[in-house]
Amino acid sequence: MGLGIDSSVELNNGVRMPCLGLGLWKVAPKDARDAVIHAFAAGYRLIDTAMIYGNENAVGEAFRDSGLSREDVFITTKLWREHHGFEKATRAFERSLRNLGLDYVDLYLIHWPGGGDRIGSWKAMEKLQEEGRCRAIGVSNFTMDHLDELLGKARCPPVVDQVEFHPYLYQKDLLGYCKTRNIQLEAYSPLTHANKLSDPALTDIASRYGKSTAQVLLRWGLQHRVVVIPKSIHRERIFQNADIFDFQISREDMLRLDKMDEGLRFSWDPTQVP
Ligand SMILES: NC(=O)c1ccc[n+]([C@@H]2O[C@H](COP(=O)([O-])OP(=O)(O)OC[C@H]3O[C@@H](n4cnc5c(N)ncnc54)[C@H](OP(=O)(O)O)[C@@H]3O)[C@@H](O)[C@H]2O)c1
Repeated sequence: MGLGIDSSVELNNGVRMPCLGLGLWKVAPKDARDAVIHAFAAGYRLIDTAMIYGNENAVGEAFRDSGLSREDVFITTKLWREHHGFEKATRAFERSLRNLGLDYVDLYLIHWPGGGDRIGSWKAMEKLQEEGRCRAIGVSNFTMDHLDELLGKARCPPVVDQVEFHPYLYQKDLLGYCKTRNIQLEAYSPLTHANKLSDPALTDIASRYGKSTAQVLLRWGLQHRVVVIPKSIHRERIFQNADIFDFQISREDMLRLDKMDEGLRFSWDPTQVP
């Protein structure tokens, strides 16, 4: 069966996660609230926020105004790097939950591997999951080395690694590593943080499908079985970014896109974090 707006992936703990979500980095609370409302109207059910984004409150408000039931939405938030360690992570999670005004989050992620005792944070997150305060726990910006360490010490393996992923940073080895270990890769900055949307090589492919370059980038991620979380604060673009289920990128064009890899990062580089 083909992919659709309702498509989801099954995480390694049995929880289902939508394949498409709305990102909210650098989005002011008022814009975040409106963007989430537009996203729900367009059929998105996954919302990606973080304590450091300062818009968890707005996400909670938009959800309550939406009339959707709690089971229908999937809310991700993240533990900031200054809150690493068992006690601090537990307190930070409580704060996020209060900000969101929710009883539980669907996915709680370690935002960044550096900054403190990440294993202590993970132990706290395992406990929060056991208590039913979050349905799934995962990581972000983890390299294969960080994952190796975590898998060696964790009782619960991470369900997700959320990393920068697009054709200009096609992290093929990490993708393969995660697939073998049943960790779902989630692509942040899937639109290259808007830096490459006018690249002629991309425009050329997009025009052949009658799609925008943004749509081709998202579809490329989906066809690699990666969850994508594009950010936009504009209603029209939020809808456009969800209109990616009526075409299929050919094998030849997938390879062409794969070959655009330049190791280009538009966000952080975690490879130097011990
Ligand atoms: N875990 C992490 O460390 C981490 C790091 C980075 C990002 N993230 C997550 O991933 C999400 C997405 O990444 P991102 O925000 O870096 O960037 P992105 O989604 O790659 O790109 C967003 C940019 O593209 C523009 N845009 C969106 N749709 C468009 C379209 N159809 N046509 C033209 N331009 C379009 C947006 O502008 P407008 O808003 O003006 O439309 C914005 O400037 C974040 O919001 C966040 O939730 C996580």
